[in-house]
Amino acid sequence: MRTQVGIIGAGPAGLLLSHLLHLKGIDSVVIESRTREEIESTIRAGVLEQGTMDLLQDVGLGNRMVAEGALHQGFELTFEGERHRIDLTDLTGHAITVYAQHEVIKDLVAARVAAGGKLVFGVSNTSLHDVESTKPSIRYEKDDDTCEIHCDFVIGCDGSQGPSRSAIPEAVRKDHQRLYPFGWFGILVEAPPSSDELIYARHDRGFALISTRSPTVQRMYFQCDPRDSVENWSDDRIWSELHARLDQADGWRVTEGRIFQKNIVGMRSFVSNVMQHGRLFLAGDSAHIVPPTGAKGMNLAVNDVKILAEGLDSFYKNGTEDKLNAYTATALQRIWRAEHFSWWMTSMLHRFADATPFDQQLQVSELRYVTSSRAGATALAENYVGMVGLSH
Ligand code: DHB
Repeated sequence: MRTQVGIIGAGPAGLLLSHLLHLKGIDSVVIESRTREEIESTIRAGVLEQGTMDLLQDVGLGNRMVAEGALHQGFELTFEGERHRIDLTDLTGHAITVYAQHEVIKDLVAARVAAGGKLVFGVSNTSLHDVESTKPSIRYEKDDDTCEIHCDFVIGCDGSQGPSRSAIPEAVRKDHQRLYPFGWFGILVEAPPSSDELIYARHDRGFALISTRSPTVQRMYFQCDPRDSVENWSDDRIWSELHARLDQADGWRVTEGRIFQKNIVGMRSFVSNVMQHGRLFLAGDSAHIVPPTGAKGMNLAVNDVKILAEGLDSFYKNGTEDKLNAYTATALQRIWRAEHFSWWMTSMLHRFADATPFDQQLQVSELRYVTSSRAGATALAENYVGMVGLSH
């Protein structure tokens, strides 16, 4: 098989890139190890930054997001029994949409299928070849056949465990990583929303977050031991933990409902400061991971492929590789901003087992600062909606 751009991975990065390239008249093939059903049902985060919302609308993918997603113009922070609102729109002129990542995936797959795009699901043993030459290829197995895609470029959108990053030789890689000693316990609940807006809570027992999926399905998280197992958490135990961390003295309480999904998310920060090697480019989770606090992951993936699509367009239109060769430096600006922001939100809101009373007072003081000073609140808000001022 021959195509212009071979894309490994049908997550938000790979699928959106394929769609953006299609709009520019560039041919691509997307291969994916999971099935279509799996990618369309894997539960991930759900916050779209202003720039992500705008891009999806500009490229014809915004209809369901606008109809079924929830536009939020603020969120709440609670700590020390206090409750504060961060008014995103007043502070920044922008907003976010709560719309689950797997819904974005469904919209992307539908658009690619409708346009006759080539998506190959259920592949295995994927490997990358000759990425240092101008004729790279991707080999994989599908239904006991060995297949090969010959292309001009290989784009690795295959997540942190995929084969793409390891196709960059160890000697040229510059990886940065930080692990956190906690995870998030996530639940999906059949219930009406507890609150009109998201609530991020710092509590002595640990962090908790109230989010939403629809008028009848809610998403909630609480900080847990990353080695814990969902079997240790009965519904009653989950509710008593959420009530302990979130309920307010003014009478506000978390609304309970039937819990129909439980999972534990690990937390780490990771950046590959090398995102290009010859004709191989990394995008999304294959190049960087953020802890979930602030929900930046998908937004970063979208930004990466937006830059790549422009670079590839300029290559096919003008024969110039300047934009492509600037990809790493351009993309890393937003990536490191989001890395810092996610680390900062995580550090400000979680319970660290080794924190001294001094550290805890600093945490509370920082929360008071971002909820009482307009300058502090703006710093939080402009990062949360996604730095609109960054060129990319
Ligand atoms: C969600 C996830 C997040 O990490 C976050 O900061 C906000 C919302 C969510 O899944 O809805």
